[in-house]
Amino acid sequence: MNLSEFQSEWMPRFDAFLYSELDARVPSQENLHKAMAYSLMGGGKRIRPLLVLATISLANSEISEGFAAAAALEYIHTYSLIHDDLPAMDDDDYRRGRLTSHKVFGESTAILAGDALLTAAFEILAESSVISADKKIKLIGLLAKASGPNGMIAGQMDDVEGEKKTLTLEELKHLHDNKTGALIRYAVTAGCLIAEADEPFATEMEGFSRHLGLAYQIHNDLKDVVLDEAETGKTIHHDAALNKNTYPSLLGVTGAIQELNGVIRQAEDCLDRVALSNGDAENKIDVFRQLLDYVRI
Ligand code: IPE
Ligand code: IPE
Ligand code: MG
Ligand code: MG
Repeated sequence: MNLSEFQSEWMPRFDAFLYSELDARVPSQENLHKAMAYSLMGGGKRIRPLLVLATISLANSEISEGFAAAAALEYIHTYSLIHDDLPAMDDDDYRRGRLTSHKVFGESTAILAGDALLTAAFEILAESSVISADKKIKLIGLLAKASGPNGMIAGQMDDVEGEKKTLTLEELKHLHDNKTGALIRYAVTAGCLIAEADEPFATEMEGFSRHLGLAYQIHNDLKDVVLDEAETGKTIHHDAALNKNTYPSLLGVTGAIQELNGVIRQAEDCLDRVALSNGDAENKIDVFRQLLDYVRI
């Protein structure tokens, strides 16, 4: 199965689930619903939910059991972007080729839509009737850890504080591992947990997600420098304007691309090892190999 087949089979169903979880919680005539829906259904690539579902599929388990964890993760990711774009943070007017949440709804509604997405994520997981109580507790704890002061928020804090200083490459890698990596790693960890995957498989797939997470942010750094606004859907050269520490600011464009290619190769090596020790009769690993195309320059 290739990536686009997997996407056409599963993502429309997942999107319907994602939206129904919003409808079930917030009356649709309210501004809060409109602001949450604007960003939730606003053209995100759904990489993180896809990773949850594809990991479950690769571990030969029931894909629909991953919907609640995948939705919770996408809710958190969406909140993180709304807050990341705020004037007090990166002050971005555009994302995904459209005005950012605070530009459309005002700052207070954007802040509250973010808060609501963050908290609703845990509601969705806690209320799921599909997964066992034991798994839910683990999934909730791991999601809180990945999103909070030991994960994404730690990265965002280092990112903001980094505007006043130059980080070493090691420090920047750590920042990226938290800021972007933590949620991407959660996707694979959650998939393995739901599918009750065996230890060697989970370790190798988590290695893959670690490399993918870093590659994802190096690629994001590079897009700001080498692509145009039609391609990125946001204001370019914004990282330099904010004095952000990025791979191209530290290593130059060529150095950053070299580093990116090295990390992609490490991710591919993990997938090769998974295929070798688990067999891959249905070519399910192709979905993951093709996911890496998102981060190639
Ligand atoms: C953007 O993530 C921000 C990062 C953490 C790199 P995505 O590129 O996955 O965002 P969408 O949801 O597809 O727009
Ligand atoms: C966004 O990071 C990551 C999170 C919201 C956690 P960036 O600020 O580097 O990403 P873009 O360029 O706004 O998508
Ligand atoms: Mg940012
Ligand atoms: Mg930003």
